[in-house]
Amino acid sequence: MTVKEYVAYRKVQIKEEIPLMAKVPCLGIIQVNEDAGSNAYIKGKLKDAAELGVNAELIKLDINTSQEELLSLIDKMNKDDKYDGFMVQMPLPKQIDEEAVKLAISPKKDVDGFHPMSTLNPCTPKGIMNYLHAENIPLVGKNAVILGRSNIVGRPMARLLLNESCNVTVLHSKTSKEDMLRYIANADIIVVAIGKMHFLDKSYTYKKDAVIIDVGISRDENGLHGDAVPDLDVKLQTPVPGGVGLLTRLALYENLLEIVNNK
Ligand code: GUN
Repeated sequence: MTVKEYVAYRKVQIKEEIPLMAKVPCLGIIQVNEDAGSNAYIKGKLKDAAELGVNAELIKLDINTSQEELLSLIDKMNKDDKYDGFMVQMPLPKQIDEEAVKLAISPKKDVDGFHPMSTLNPCTPKGIMNYLHAENIPLVGKNAVILGRSNIVGRPMARLLLNESCNVTVLHSKTSKEDMLRYIANADIIVVAIGKMHFLDKSYTYKKDAVIIDVGISRDENGLHGDAVPDLDVKLQTPVPGGVGLLTRLALYENLLEIVNNK
């Protein structure tokens, strides 16, 4: 099943769940940046909400908003029953400390799963795990290699794959090419999230039945590109666009429904 097919199938299931819920879930999205990638994501998230029959509201703040102003809005939304969950779109402008923002959002409303006390998982790794399960990709005792150690993707991805008994290796900008080659050649599952267009190419060898999950999105005059060149000789490779972005958006609404159902 392609990512698009999987997401379409899950959306039908979620859409059927909404009328059975105690209330129509409401998501708040705070945006304080003027980032093209974020605009595209948010547009997609609002479209998903309309399609699923969920309420979503975008609160767009000026790029010069101070940290104090943002934290005060977060405090208000923590207390406002209208919002079941809300998120602050990253990246944030320089004057705002991302960690302070993540800690300010109540774990009860943290759809991103960024708060250390949150019981929800961050959306990108969660969406990827759901897709691996849907595809029946063997995980126990398999070699999972993660490229990138970000707080949003690499680190939580390592935790979730380890929970499924994968042998997890996290590679990063200080890993030598020689080691990259060695780990990648032995990998059953590769999650690449380093933001370098077409980093994984034919200079690497891959297992024939490897699975490549491409989290990268780079933009140039020809459109969007992943961290891997398309159509590598492996069993499964998620495309960009039409891959992990869709899984992340879906997981966001799965988290929102979980919040409402656990109230
Ligand atoms: N920016 C890129 N991905 C994400 C995400 O999952 N959540 C938030 N809040 N910002 C992002």
